Amino acid sequence: METVILDRRDRINTGEIEARLERFYEEGQRLPQDELEDFVDLMQVYEGAMYEISTKLDVLDGEFQVRFEHNPIHHLERRLKSVSSIIGKLERKELPFTVKSIRDHLFDVAGLRVVCNYRDDVYSVSNYLSAQSDIQVLRVKDYIKHPKQNGYRSLHVIYSVPVFLSSGEHYTPVEVQFRTIAMDYWASLEHALRYKTDLPDARLAEHSQTLLDCARSLQNIEAQMQNIHRDINGAPQSEEPPKSK
Ligand code: GTP
Ligand code: MG
Repeated sequence: METVILDRRDRINTGEIEARLERFYEEGQRLPQDELEDFVDLMQVYEGAMYEISTKLDVLDGEFQVRFEHNPIHHLERRLKSVSSIIGKLERKELPFTVKSIRDHLFDVAGLRVVCNYRDDVYSVSNYLSAQSDIQVLRVKDYIKHPKQNGYRSLHVIYSVPVFLSSGEHYTPVEVQFRTIAMDYWASLEHALRYKTDLPDARLAEHSQTLLDCARSLQNIEAQMQNIHRDINGAPQSEEPPKSK
C-alpha cells in the first residue's frame, strides 16, 4: 500500500510575494529584483528537500510493509511555509527579508508531518532516516519524553538533506514532526482552541485543563495498545530519538 501523502502547499508566485512584501518595506521601497529571483530559487530548493525526505519515508514504509507486514506511517503531510508566515517569523525575529536571513535562521520552511501508528514507529522511522549516509541531523526536540506544559507531544527533528541542482549539492533543512495518530488528534484540537480567540477566558482555561487531562489519558491508552501490538508484531521496538550528527 502506498503511503497517503497530503500536500498542504501554497504555490509560489512572484506577484503574490511582492504584494505581501509591501507592508514589510518602507513606503516606495521594493525588494530588489535579483533578491526576488533568489527567493523563488530558494523556495524551489526547499521544495526539493521536502520531496527528498518524503520519498525516503515512503521507501522506509514500503520496506516495513514487506519485512514486518506493518506500515509504520499512517499518513504524511507536507507543506512549504507560506510567504506571509516567512515574513511574520522574520519580523518576530527582527530580521530583514533577505535570502540570507531565511537560509541562516529559518529551519522550518520545508515541513513534513509524519503521522505514525505507534510510538515505536515514531522512534524507529526517525532513527532509520537519521542513519542514512546523506542525511544530517541538525536538531532534535523530544516532546514525547518531555511533553510541553499544555500536554503537547511529538518528536521534532530538523534534518539536512542534499538537493542536487545544476550548481551542485545544496544541504537544506527540513523540519519533520513525528507523532502518533493519538498525538495528532490531540494537537489538532489544541491548535483549534488556541486560535479560537472569542471564548471567555474562564472557558478557555477550563478547556485547556480538560485537554491536559486528555493528553494523559491518550498517553495511557497508547501505551497499552503499543504493548498489544508489540506482542503480535515483530517490527523493531525503539525508545530513543535520533541523535544530532
Ligand atoms: P517556532 O517554529 O517559532 O514555533 O519555534 P520552534 O521551531 O522552536 O518550535 P517547536 O519546534 O517547539 O514547534 C514547532 C511546531 O510544532 C509549531 O509550528 C507547531 O506546528 C508544532 N507545535 C509546537 N508546540 C505545539 C503545541 O503546543 N500545540 C500544537 N498544536 N502544536 C505545537
Ligand atoms: Mg519551528
